[in-house]
Amino acid sequence: MLPDRALASMPSPAARRVRDVFDAMKVATRVENKKVLVDLAPSVARGLLLKEGKQGEPVPMRASHEAYFDFRYQGDYPEMYELYRRAVQNQWDGDRQLDWSTDVDPQNPEKPVFPIELVPMEGLAAHGIHLDHAEQMRFVSDFSCWLLSQFMHGEQGALFASAQVTECVRWTDGKFYGATQVMDEARHLEVFLRYLESKLGKLYQVNDNLFTILDALMRDSRWDMKFLGMQIMVEGLALGAFSMMYQSTREPLLKEMLRYVIQDEARHVHYGVLALKRHFAELSPRELREREDWTFEVACLMRDRFLAHEIYDEWFAGHMTRPQWDQVMSNSPFLTQFRQTMFKRLVPNLEYIGIFSPRIRAHYDKVGLTQYAGGRNASELTAEDLLAA
Ligand SMILES: [Fe+2]
Ligand SMILES: [Fe+2]
Repeated sequence: MLPDRALASMPSPAARRVRDVFDAMKVATRVENKKVLVDLAPSVARGLLLKEGKQGEPVPMRASHEAYFDFRYQGDYPEMYELYRRAVQNQWDGDRQLDWSTDVDPQNPEKPVFPIELVPMEGLAAHGIHLDHAEQMRFVSDFSCWLLSQFMHGEQGALFASAQVTECVRWTDGKFYGATQVMDEARHLEVFLRYLESKLGKLYQVNDNLFTILDALMRDSRWDMKFLGMQIMVEGLALGAFSMMYQSTREPLLKEMLRYVIQDEARHVHYGVLALKRHFAELSPRELREREDWTFEVACLMRDRFLAHEIYDEWFAGHMTRPQWDQVMSNSPFLTQFRQTMFKRLVPNLEYIGIFSPRIRAHYDKVGLTQYAGGRNASELTAEDLLAA
């Protein structure tokens, strides 16, 4: 690893590039299972090295899955059909049911979008950085825009992934359900985009780790990997994040929007665990092991995505190094709680669908992500539970 001194002497775009290469190498060297490495490497190159999500151009991704037709139309998964009926009955209209006349000021201390505790004051002070009150409010505002932008980009991924999954899922009842999720995700993308554009006035580009995951999911030909990546990982973590955001925001329009979105997302994760519980029961030990390894790597990518390098580049590049910033973010009490809430929702689902063996659990232990094992999984949680969490 190059010493920080050497990086400090480089012009900042060059130093940033070197850091990106090291980040990509870190992912590559951590992955122990070579098959997982081969699967993820092209997406890591496109996301972390080429930064295809940040070029300001549309990004074509070639999908290679099979559409699965079944002309027998059997009632093959009653619990999924039941979810479909519930989804149809609970469709909502973001234009009519949310009050878009609400006056939102992201720097208003009375109704903050997110609390001021979001600012890692102590961590920044350790590096000689002191933000005055106005700067703190501006930081919270920018960070809120960054966070919500990432969830919005995730919603675009969920829209495409749910469309792909609807084509390739094996159960007719799953296809009925999948179609409702496509509509849900379109609505989520619509309301997040509208909120960011018309109320907060700032959009951030997609985070490289998130791009890497989306790229891997879109191109993977195996339907259950799309399911695992999107329904269980991306959506499961988003659900935890939305619950915490719902609890901590004092901004009424965002709170109401999240209340609607959480109810939809609870169904999406429930669909994911129903499908994979049944499918994984039929896989060989080797196939299960591969899915366990893949999931662990994606979990690490997802955790690191919240290091918010886009915010670092905008606010603190030149004042501290990126590893120092990573440390500040890792130790921030607010973000620590945020990460914990997210993984609290994920780990019980991995246990339920059968990809949390003692072997892989040891890996999760090492990165501090096992404390929520044994909790309630998505099939046991209602939307009310999630709103109260
Ligand atoms: Fe969504
Ligand atoms: Fe979703």
